[in-house]
Amino acid sequence: MGNRLPDNFLWGGATAANQYEGGYLSGGKGLSTLDAITGGSHTSPRRITFKTADGRTGSVTREEPLPEGAVGYIAPDIYYPSHVATDFYHHYKEDIALFAEMGFKCFRMSITWSRICPNGMYDVNEEGLQFYDDVFDECLKYNIEPVVTINHFDTPMYLADHYDGWANRNLVDYYLFFCETIFKRYKDKVKYWMTFNEINFLRSWTQIGIHKNDAATKAQAHHHIFVASAKAVKLGHEINPDFKIGMMVSYIPSYPMTCRPEDMWESMQFNHEREFFMDVQCRGKYPNYRLKEYERNGINLVTEEGDDEILKEGTVDYIGFSYYMSTVSTTDKNAAKTSGNQVMAYRNPYLKESEWGWAIDPLGLRISLNQIYDRYQLPMFIVENGFGAADAVEKDGTINDDYRIDYFRQHIQAMKDAVLIDGVDLIGYTPWGCIDLVSSGTGEMKKRYGFIYVDMDDQGKGTLKRSRKKSFYWYKHVIETNGEEL
Ligand code: BG6
Repeated sequence: MGNRLPDNFLWGGATAANQYEGGYLSGGKGLSTLDAITGGSHTSPRRITFKTADGRTGSVTREEPLPEGAVGYIAPDIYYPSHVATDFYHHYKEDIALFAEMGFKCFRMSITWSRICPNGMYDVNEEGLQFYDDVFDECLKYNIEPVVTINHFDTPMYLADHYDGWANRNLVDYYLFFCETIFKRYKDKVKYWMTFNEINFLRSWTQIGIHKNDAATKAQAHHHIFVASAKAVKLGHEINPDFKIGMMVSYIPSYPMTCRPEDMWESMQFNHEREFFMDVQCRGKYPNYRLKEYERNGINLVTEEGDDEILKEGTVDYIGFSYYMSTVSTTDKNAAKTSGNQVMAYRNPYLKESEWGWAIDPLGLRISLNQIYDRYQLPMFIVENGFGAADAVEKDGTINDDYRIDYFRQHIQAMKDAVLIDGVDLIGYTPWGCIDLVSSGTGEMKKRYGFIYVDMDDQGKGTLKRSRKKSFYWYKHVIETNGEEL
């Protein structure tokens, strides 16, 4: 058994437009829901700012519904992190050159829907299309393969305001038009696509434009998203049979707190929350456990004739997933809690946590790779993994992020074990926020993931200057040796 990953293994890094791109009003872009969400912190949640029909302004958290008929509103005196983010829009050449210097084989990014279709419908903004052409050309100049997330948490604000976002079936057609436009335009530049980022976390106004967020509204919106994704997979393959079109899920394996069967049952329920989305997109049909749950809860999905066939015909080519942490399940509601990636988590006494409370569990990555592969036998792509930490810039300008190097060393070793010892089929690895960008959960800049530091703070102040962290040189060497030397 060798110690090297396959030669064509896709090493790279991952970003998302709403957290990185900026240029929120530049080049003909329309507003996106994410342009109306404020910054926040570990202890104070981000807020959606809105205006009601009678002109009242207000705000809610992502967990709360918007008042009926409210529309997204950008207040003049509030700082919104997506507006400039870390300004890929104006720095893409410099940034891609730095990715090339690290030896990236691929670069994961997302396309802002409202940059291509400003109100989300059938008008196309040529300047937006040209921007991504320029970005892809820049990548290809360095032999970096673009890996594109079609939709990473953003919905054109017009569709949220006028259609109630994905609660409305019309969005299937609007999304399909967006997909057709970019598939045709970039068919010779992009091969790897993902239809929706972390599909299991799509649940609020900012992500999918829905005003109410009760279980029935979310289930209906998810159905529309499943249909849209399946249609996009089919359409993409017709446009270019070489396309590899994947799904993307946030995978958080859950361990039972004890060997009590009840804890195991809790754990299984927790895992079903991720598996449900993989089951539909990989097997092409709803699993019985979810259909029964809808039945018990009186949720009657509104479907159209042919939906079953669409789901069957549009199963994905690979499973993209994010892995940051594992969690614990228990029936003991008094057990110690900690934070997690968009989930409330119970504390695992055997694991250390990041400053934001996320459990650090490298073996959990190997477990995840095995669990997913056992269940679906599809190629996998780790499209997010990383360590959010506050970095200090030393007097001499260096950033010595040894804690990040430690995290990656252990996680990459676990990934190698899954490939080289367990034999899972893995396409590549793109650590999250390979360059510092805005945190999705908290809206902070303080929570950094990058190999490249960006001078920007939580109030949006800074020069946006890029500098290489210690981890930059470390990851460069990992790629050079194809993972052999960690
Ligand atoms: C994933 C998202 O949930 O985790 C990213 O796909 C996000 O958009 C990442 O940034 C890390 O989460 P956070 O909250 O630390 O930014």
